[in-house]
Amino acid sequence: HRHLLGIKGLNERDITGLLDLADEAVKISRQREKKTSTLRGLTQINLFFEASTRTQSSFELAGKRLGADVMNMSVGNSSVKKGETLIDTAMTLNAMHPDVLVVRHSSAGAAALLAQKVSCSVINAGDGQHEHPTQALLDALTIRRAKGKLSRIIVAICGDVLHSRVARSNILLLNQMGARVRVVAPATLLPSGIAEMGAEVYHSMEEGLKDADVVMMLRLQRERMAGAFVPSVREYFRYYGLDAEKLKAAKEDALVMHPGPMNRGVEIASEIADGPQSVIEQQVEMGVAVRMAVMEALLVSQHQGGLNNQGYGA
Ligand code: CP
Repeated sequence: HRHLLGIKGLNERDITGLLDLADEAVKISRQREKKTSTLRGLTQINLFFEASTRTQSSFELAGKRLGADVMNMSVGNSSVKKGETLIDTAMTLNAMHPDVLVVRHSSAGAAALLAQKVSCSVINAGDGQHEHPTQALLDALTIRRAKGKLSRIIVAICGDVLHSRVARSNILLLNQMGARVRVVAPATLLPSGIAEMGAEVYHSMEEGLKDADVVMMLRLQRERMAGAFVPSVREYFRYYGLDAEKLKAAKEDALVMHPGPMNRGVEIASEIADGPQSVIEQQVEMGVAVRMAVMEALLVSQHQGGLNNQGYGA
């Protein structure tokens, strides 16, 4: 069974192939008749141990538009509450013969662990601070559709990079596609080794946003900061919140992105989130298309061998 556990391991051809497939899925989603028979007869289970609005609902719609039977495991009402472990929960569901398990969990490596245990495809829908591959793919699709390319564009990823699986997956993908990636954040919100990942480091928004084609804002993940440095919201917004003044440093036609959920007035001003340069709603639309593309690529035999991620063929 083939899995999508991260952007790491995907090459330029894999990514381009998925984005091309997703472009076709956008057309399907814009039709009145949205249902196809691509995954007819197959069963998809969404297993989300962390909260989600966008990812879970778009995976559900993606599966339904491809004709799969989709089951959302309600972890909050499950025997996880009685102490059942991640692996026991997954193996219980595995016994019901799903074809794909979509997993979100607070621990890095959770999806990879399940991929070794279950007898179906596994898709990582976010694992701790590690990766969120379908988010990076939907961001790339949004950028490619607006700018026509990913190579040689300047993307500034701003804010709480330290806790962000979205940032990690985006840095990996954008580097693979030949974009120039910058991270803009206070030193306290940057992980070690970020430069080695292929990102130029900036601590000032004015310098980091200069001539950027894309300004990607990240949510300040205060729930992951227990006991550590928690910046004051007012001060954070003053130095790192995206407002009209700071956005002026970027190119005039720069895209403003945010994976959601947004903290308005913390990392982004409302007038910018809702402004003419914002593509935040397009990102959500592309989310359904990218998830359709990923499931088609993993589960339909005509795509076999067309992808090269870790876990394929396992
Ligand atoms: N961007 C993202 O993953 O959003 P959700 O947490 O709402 O799924």
